[in-house]
Amino acid sequence: MKSRKFLAAAAGALMALTLAACSGGGAGTDDPSDAPTGGTATEGGLVGVAMPTQTSERWIADGEAVKAGLEELGFDVDLQYANDDIPTQSQQVDQMITNGAKVLIIAAIDGTALSSQLQSAADKGIKVIAYDRLIRDSANVDFYVTFDNYKVGVQQATSLLVGLGVLNADGSEGTATGPFNIELFAGSPDDNNAGFFFNGAMDTLQPFIDSGVLVVKSGQTDFEQVAILRWQQDVAQKRMEDLLTSTYTGGDKVQGVLSPYDGLSRGIITALQNAGYPATISDGFPIVSGQDAEIASVKLINDDVQFATIFKDTRKLAAQAITSAESLLAGEEPEANDTTTYDNGVKVVPSYLLESDIVYKDNIQSLLIDSGYWTADEVAAGVAS
Ligand code: GAL
Repeated sequence: MKSRKFLAAAAGALMALTLAACSGGGAGTDDPSDAPTGGTATEGGLVGVAMPTQTSERWIADGEAVKAGLEELGFDVDLQYANDDIPTQSQQVDQMITNGAKVLIIAAIDGTALSSQLQSAADKGIKVIAYDRLIRDSANVDFYVTFDNYKVGVQQATSLLVGLGVLNADGSEGTATGPFNIELFAGSPDDNNAGFFFNGAMDTLQPFIDSGVLVVKSGQTDFEQVAILRWQQDVAQKRMEDLLTSTYTGGDKVQGVLSPYDGLSRGIITALQNAGYPATISDGFPIVSGQDAEIASVKLINDDVQFATIFKDTRKLAAQAITSAESLLAGEEPEANDTTTYDNGVKVVPSYLLESDIVYKDNIQSLLIDSGYWTADEVAAGVAS
């Protein structure tokens, strides 16, 4: 799968380069001597790519796709993972600046922790792209490539409602009226995305909570109560175990769990399995949502254990980051499709938002296998080959 992902990302990036060359490019106010000539002037030079962690396979795929696409275009790439450690990521970005990177592509661990690094980048004329996660509290963020994060949250809640039968997959009203016991989880409080996911989800769930169709039995509905620092699977498992012990005794069962990320979903599922819930959804296992279409979770969906995930095609995100880097290096504004949503506390960062899809068992084939994201064998095995 990895090599296919690289090729797809590289092909996407090359297509973007060709399109840029064909369109003539060049903002009117730019010095023409800075503009690329024949699509080759931006070739070469170092791009720093700072990714948060290798414990989640999506960031490995992201990093490799960005690296492969940039190298295909003639750039040198310094790809670093920071093991979810904030000082490590700060040092890595410092080092990229020292090494002479022309552009930094950064998926931040803590969205507020890189201000001094970005100031020294700006002082040296280095362009900065926030990758997937917004970098906050800094004027020195030139562009943001991501998905429509609020909509991802809406999709997560929608999948939970579909799994419970409250909604049909087409969004129409389902036949189930509850009341259903649910619990809520959110992502890492230092990741700007986590709030967007949670807000999108809660805006979708709240009417059903208000009407009594859904009951958050623990009473824990505030972001601070349900957030899981650094998106850690074992912390989510522990919180679910605690909820089962504190709230679901004496025959009460949890029927649905809002989970914003597949790693957390697997921790939640393990807690439910250990507590003796039925093996499959058909037999009464709770409805659990997710995000990222990680292969272990796609297998769980295929096996009728996890109900859904959200597919964010990292190949497309990588290609968009590369296209944006090309534009910045050519002295142009990257193409944005959102210039209002992502206020980082200092400025609204122009953004390009990609679309995501809900994956259910019955569309694994069309969304993930037919697109080459995973093979049927990988889905069956639950591991990337
Ligand atoms: C978020 C990202 C999600 C998920 C999560 C945990 O920032 O948008 O897709 O990967 O981090 O890694």
